[in-house]
Amino acid sequence: MITVLILRCIMVKSTTRKSAKSDRRRYNRIARFYDLFETPMELMNFRKWRKMLFDLIKAEKGLVLEIGAGTGKNIPHYPSNVVALDISEKMLERAVRRAKESGKKVDFLLADAENLPFRSNSFDVVFTTFVFCSVDDPVRGLREAFRVLKKGGRAYFLEHMLPKSRFLHPLFNLLNPIFRAFGPEINRRTDENIQRAGFQIVKEYMLFGSVFRLIVAEKPLDSVDEASGYSLKRSESSDSSNFRRFIGQSLLPLRLTQLLR
Ligand SMILES: C[S@@+](CC[C@H](N)C(=O)[O-])C[C@H]1O[C@@H](n2cnc3c(N)ncnc32)[C@H](O)[C@@H]1O
Repeated sequence: MITVLILRCIMVKSTTRKSAKSDRRRYNRIARFYDLFETPMELMNFRKWRKMLFDLIKAEKGLVLEIGAGTGKNIPHYPSNVVALDISEKMLERAVRRAKESGKKVDFLLADAENLPFRSNSFDVVFTTFVFCSVDDPVRGLREAFRVLKKGGRAYFLEHMLPKSRFLHPLFNLLNPIFRAFGPEINRRTDENIQRAGFQIVKEYMLFGSVFRLIVAEKPLDSVDEASGYSLKRSESSDSSNFRRFIGQSLLPLRLTQLLR
């Protein structure tokens, strides 16, 4: 069976935030080795946990956003209607290839989690896997995830974080700078950050002790959206001239045009 694949990839005009640039550089540098480096973890646990995540997500309906899609390891599990973004074009290039290979139609976007270019209340589901250990200002990024999620919508976070046992904290703090040099921080309190961003945690699955967790969170129906720090002027941000071709078609996908501000 031949699957016709339309890959629609666009690139958001780059934001100038300094830390975003260093996140991008860091992941551009390691993109080539990323999958190889992660293979042992993937075989041991990650693969199993990704499946667990998508067993939950497949019960959801509507438009889904993946923040920090990386090399696209979740793509084989994607339902239809996924918009996938990352700050690193080198990681995203690999995700595009993966989408082609698995015959999935995905809208890719090069964008910063801390400055999402979407209108508030755009997505039915938002999810991340191993991302908020890297985003420079995680609470700001999580607030953006919260903002673009529809009220009553669910967010799924498969993340690693500081374990519950205080006994282990000195070790995680000690090793953190070494890990950060390559990518993630290992001593973040992502569970608390999720709540600080406004989400209500509805379920928390502890994986590998409590170092890894699959957190299911909700945007309450009565929540009030905060203004985001998106840096483009209003008149610019709704203009498709802000976007240029990343890979694939030159036209801005209609669906994304409608979501952008
Ligand atoms: C550890 S990797 C995880 C990739 C993928 N989610 C996975 O499960 O393999 C973290 C990803 O987050 C992306 N990232 C880091 N900071 C970001 C930001 N501010 N905005 C968007 N993506 C970001 C990185 O480029 C990288 O691809």
